[in-house]
Amino acid sequence: MTHCGNLTSANKHWLIDLPPAGTYIFRLEVNQRLNLDFLSGQKNSMNKNVLIISALAFVALMAFIFVQSNTPAPTRAPMVSVTPIEVNGQTALGKAKFDDNCASCHGENATGLEGLGPPLVHKIYEPSHHADIAFMLAARNGVRAHHWPFGNMPAVDIEESDMQAIIAYIRKLQVANGID
Ligand code: HEC
Repeated sequence: MTHCGNLTSANKHWLIDLPPAGTYIFRLEVNQRLNLDFLSGQKNSMNKNVLIISALAFVALMAFIFVQSNTPAPTRAPMVSVTPIEVNGQTALGKAKFDDNCASCHGENATGLEGLGPPLVHKIYEPSHHADIAFMLAARNGVRAHHWPFGNMPAVDIEESDMQAIIAYIRKLQVANGID
């Protein structure tokens, strides 16, 4: 950069710190608009407000469409096929509690429901990856979406003993379907 050789270091600094040209064009436009608003009558400035509001509405609409296109519609279709199990005692209680509190999102027999909740009969939820405590915490605190694009799971108001029964039921379902 020989042609910069005779610049003082202060000048160089100023040159290096220049924001991208676009920033200036944008500032210029904003300034012009403000000036125009200031100089022109109220009608004109109202028109401009309408214009700005329309532009904002358009941006919001685009953002909405973008988010929508990245979130699968809740088709509620079962996500995996699960062989149901015979239940008795604790697992019978677990199934009843699961059907009441969890199946609306996780599906009957924990098959998952597309767009609502993941299948718990799934390798991700085998005991070595999601131990029983993870189930307890999921119900107690809810779950921030991290494995699936279905949004957060809300906390579920449920007795700890009922959760233990649900876990026993889910583990038995998992084993019967080759997940352990
Ligand atoms: C309103 C819908 C909804 C309900 C009701 C619901 N869940 Fe969930 N659950 C979800 C979603 C969505 C996820 C996935 C979060 C993610 O992206 O990892 C999830 C994840 C989980 C997980 C994984 C936790 C982790 O650490 O990754 C467990 C375990 C779980 N749910 C158990 C249950 C149980 C048991 C019940 C009933 C007591 C229940 N859920 C009720 C929607 C729900």
